[in-house]
Amino acid sequence: IHMAILVTGGAGYIGSHTVAELLDKGEQVVIVDNLQQGHRDALLGGKLYAGDLRDADFMDTVFKENEIDAVIHFAANSLVGESMQNPGKYYHNNVYGTLCLLEKMNEYGVKKIVFSSTAATYGEPENVPILETDRTLPTNAYGETKLAMEKMMRWFDTAHGIKHVSLRYFNAAGAHEGGRIGEDHSPETHLVPLVLQVALGQRPHISVFGDDYATADGTCIRDYIHVTDLADAHILAVEKLRAGGESGIYNLGSGTGFSVKQVIEIARSVTGHPIPAVIEARRAGDPATLIASSERARVELGWKPKRDSMEQIIASAWKWHQAHRDGYDK
Ligand code: UFG
Repeated sequence: IHMAILVTGGAGYIGSHTVAELLDKGEQVVIVDNLQQGHRDALLGGKLYAGDLRDADFMDTVFKENEIDAVIHFAANSLVGESMQNPGKYYHNNVYGTLCLLEKMNEYGVKKIVFSSTAATYGEPENVPILETDRTLPTNAYGETKLAMEKMMRWFDTAHGIKHVSLRYFNAAGAHEGGRIGEDHSPETHLVPLVLQVALGQRPHISVFGDDYATADGTCIRDYIHVTDLADAHILAVEKLRAGGESGIYNLGSGTGFSVKQVIEIARSVTGHPIPAVIEARRAGDPATLIASSERARVELGWKPKRDSMEQIIASAWKWHQAHRDGYDK
């Protein structure tokens, strides 16, 4: 029988959905989360240690009290705008936090890590769809820290044999089928939850950040992927490493793009609400089009997104938002 999987940031949006899938598979799950962004109520099980990766004594307790054979590492700050105002926070929590984690893994002989990376490592894309071999030139500090974390893992592999699978997500959206966990960020900056807050009457309109991009309708195109499909990829990555697989980097997306206007239109049909939209200025740092090629994940991990219609993704998020109008706290 398998040993425990440590999930850092497991009380956050993507982390909590991954914990739910791991529990479904019968895995033993240990969660480390400092609860700055995460929510206790987002955990459907597992053993939570509330604390910070950068606290060496705390991490010693976690590694001593559990038999951990693999880590799935989500714990990080992830707001592009904030990273441009306060890059130091991102280097400290993301890069130094990962260094602390890798050193503890090495100390306790844990040799497998699956890492939550991002399309923001690429920056302005060279090609559509984006391949893992494309240039990485982040346009924001957030993406730069994630790229630094990936590179750090490579050298810990070379020196210490810690194998890593880095998963570069495109736009995570949607909520767990069971309806008990979903997306609750504070502040919320993501398109899908904001659009649904308009449908709930919590915002007067959705702001569309620019309609003069070089796309068919002038609004930005993104590749939306259901959070549970992302969660499944993490489990496949752990299985690959447990089977003795090598380190690797994989894009995770659907391969299909939707414009901001198309997302709003689909949300109107799912919710039956008119969702007024107001065109505003472009948001700094937004590339016109981000679409993933996930061929490598399909071939090498055997990953196959199952919830890949945009209607389905938005409907699952809508179910959660209706039942949790004020997120987890109410
Ligand atoms: N948008 C609006 N109005 C809003 C919010 C967003 O028009 O109120 C637009 C954005 O300009 C963008 C699209 O909707 O064109 C999607 O925006 P999100 O903020 O939902 O997502 P991003 O594509 O900006 O960001 C996501 C992740 C980041 C990651 C980035 C690149 O949230 O963590 O993809 O991988 F860095």
